Amino acid sequence: MVNMKMSCFLWGVLIVIVLCSAYLGEGKKLETTPTPWPEQFHSVLYINNSGSLQVTDLWYDWSKGRNFNIIQKQLGRKLYDLEWNNGTSFYYYLDKDECKRMHFDVGILRPNWLEGAKYLGMKYVDGFLCNEWEKVDFIWYYEDAITNRPVYWRFFSGMSVHVMTFEVGAVLEDAEWQAPIYCFDKAVAVEDLKEKTKASPVKGYAPLYPYFHKRLLSGFNEHNIFTIDS
Ligand SMILES: *[C@@H]1O[C@H](CO)[C@@H](O)[C@H](O)[C@H]1NC(C)=O
Ligand SMILES: *[C@@H]1O[C@H](CO)[C@@H](O)[C@H](O)[C@H]1NC(C)=O
Repeated sequence: MVNMKMSCFLWGVLIVIVLCSAYLGEGKKLETTPTPWPEQFHSVLYINNSGSLQVTDLWYDWSKGRNFNIIQKQLGRKLYDLEWNNGTSFYYYLDKDECKRMHFDVGILRPNWLEGAKYLGMKYVDGFLCNEWEKVDFIWYYEDAITNRPVYWRFFSGMSVHVMTFEVGAVLEDAEWQAPIYCFDKAVAVEDLKEKTKASPVKGYAPLYPYFHKRLLSGFNEHNIFTIDS
């Protein structure tokens, strides 16, 4: 009788363990990787770069191999950061003829650029219940646990990005992707930033690498037209 009870109990324990591990295994499988970015989307991003604020229109277009950040600095100028997957990036303003052309070996972010990130659990961010990941001490990324849309990400540098809109499938017309003519005019500066590009710990992340951005923008002299080719 006692033996019978004992073995029933043990079977019960065993079943519970099996069910629990199946459940946990399933949960883990769902959350180990952030959802890949859609091949085309438009997002309005509210960005705080160590206290300096900007609203960025992000047009991500992997299908056509291009990425556009239109950056409105608070009460400041509007910077156009146009990146092609062949490695060419243009940084320009339209209020004055200023353009900087750069080459990155890595191209634009791939849709699965967050693959390999470490899952850290769930957390409320900006009022949304999110799954949290961290990738190589470089970025902390938060995705809505229910809709799987990105909500927020933060770089080790302190730059934080809040996703205000996320329109999957939205595409900017081709004509808008044409860099102004003065981007092709002159060949002035020679500054090869390839080595620094490689220093980015996330492959394909170079164009948005914050350290890089800082350098870029601080080196953006009025009246200067740089052309940087490899
Ligand atoms: C921007 O970030 C800084 C920290 O880098 C913080 O002190 C400040 O409150 C933030 N400002 C806004 C408007 O979010
Ligand atoms: C990359 O593509 C853009 C847009 O078509 C073009 O303007 C640029 O010259 C290309 N760069 C290279 C290195 O081919």
